[in-house]
Amino acid sequence: MSGQGSTWGGGYVTDVNYLPGWYRQQSPMHLAVTCLLLGVACDLPAGEEDVHYLELGCGLGFGAMTLAASNPSWRITAIDFNPSHIAQARAIAQDAGLRNIAFLEADLTNFTDTEEGRRLPQADFVSMHGVWSWVSPAVREGILRLLRDKVRAGGVVHVSYNSLPGWQGALGMQHLLLNAGDAAGGGSERRAAAGIELTRELMEAGAVHLAGQGVIQQLMSGISKLPAEYLSHEFMNRAWSPCFHSDVMDAFSTAKLDWVGSASLTENYSNLMLTDAQRAIYARAEGPRMRELIKDMCLPRPLRQDVFVRGVQRIPPRARDAALNDLVLALTTPIEDIVYEVEVASGKASLSPDYYAPILSALAEAPRSVRELMAPSVAAGRTSDPRELVGVLIGIGHVMPMLRPGLGPDTVAQRFNRIAARWVGRPENQTHSFALASVAAGGGFPATIFDLVVNDRLQAGDDVGSLEQWIMMLHPDVTEEEIEPLRKILRRAAEVRLPLMRVAGVV
Ligand SMILES: C[S@@+](CC[C@H](N)C(=O)[O-])C[C@H]1O[C@@H](n2cnc3c(N)ncnc32)[C@H](O)[C@@H]1O
Repeated sequence: MSGQGSTWGGGYVTDVNYLPGWYRQQSPMHLAVTCLLLGVACDLPAGEEDVHYLELGCGLGFGAMTLAASNPSWRITAIDFNPSHIAQARAIAQDAGLRNIAFLEADLTNFTDTEEGRRLPQADFVSMHGVWSWVSPAVREGILRLLRDKVRAGGVVHVSYNSLPGWQGALGMQHLLLNAGDAAGGGSERRAAAGIELTRELMEAGAVHLAGQGVIQQLMSGISKLPAEYLSHEFMNRAWSPCFHSDVMDAFSTAKLDWVGSASLTENYSNLMLTDAQRAIYARAEGPRMRELIKDMCLPRPLRQDVFVRGVQRIPPRARDAALNDLVLALTTPIEDIVYEVEVASGKASLSPDYYAPILSALAEAPRSVRELMAPSVAAGRTSDPRELVGVLIGIGHVMPMLRPGLGPDTVAQRFNRIAARWVGRPENQTHSFALASVAAGGGFPATIFDLVVNDRLQAGDDVGSLEQWIMMLHPDVTEEEIEPLRKILRRAAEVRLPLMRVAGVV
């Protein structure tokens, strides 16, 4: 396996670091709201209690650090076997003065057999994003042993994975990429590029197992814009194998974990996901095994975001609705960017502007509880079901739930945000999802690198008059044609996006 950098990776890419990023599905607050929407008990960990969050395969640790900076009373443990990831993450955490996070360099295959593994306390929340279907059966077994030992009763586990049959049409493409990479030799980035080039050539030549597959066309259409690090970790792992939901459910049940639903909230609503004919068949099926299989047969979803709980406790509908009504939401999308027609798996779904526009306008003024938003004076009284309002608005990403509403920006969180701006504020990261750490949110408030850079500069005492300097900081090699678009984006971040974050108590 020359060129992939190691004999210790067990076939996982180790010669290229992964990319930093924020994925809201990993956040305990998001997971707690997911459980609540699905009628499963999960405390919202808002107080000073000692919550333990454990991330497996944390990469460069941007998500884990954002959670640590946003929740000073929590204990965060983040594990990855790549020493280059762990060294970089530890350096950033130290710079930011994050004292409640530990980065462990450990292999998940045998972590529970090590002294460090034995000492690790049980966790309230565990998350693994981009790990399960990318690693070998031996690593998955190690992860299951860890989950058996280290998830407390009532604890929540999030796992994302490439799913079947969503990926079925691209299995041949993955095999081609790996083999073309081996033939080309060199490091993972070069191998991935060679594999992609051959795939493209064969597609153009009409290769039936490439040219006719929707999932491949979708993957290849935007592939030239994807960073080499992402392509290496996505496609060049030898043990990569997408899974059926029922197999993951069976594996997790050996760790006493029950499947609850999807952290991609809109996927829990069959009326948004399925056509009428599909829904009629779905409604006849019983139990999550058949129902999810029917959904997976109908949806073009190549990545699942599943949530499990160790020992599910169902909440009576009245208590569930009371908890949802107490939830405070904040607007995350500038009001003029809100679109009322959204793409969902079954086509397009329309949000009624008559109902949602007054709710979103109220949120533009201040975060508000669901109870306030559903009052007849705000909402036109169309629904009395808080699940619809919360699930739809958080699901499509216009709002987020606030863990500690009313709190303002915090010194440690802002210190991390400024260090993060200098860490990730580079043009090649402009399409990735990042966040600003926020104690009020209890996690990351969605942000672009431009938002991070502008926040850093405003904190430093600059004003929008310094735009040209910001551009040079962000992009020292900027070309003439790039300047005007960058000016516009940065000005908008300062004049529209940061004020939205100020309303939420983030900056
Ligand atoms: C695709 S990356 C995802 C990183 C991060 N969770 C994210 O979403 O940004 C998968 C991560 O799993 C780590 N990993 C792979 N095999 C591992 C193992 N056996 N033990 C620990 N970490 C492992 C890799 O080093 C890599 O950082």
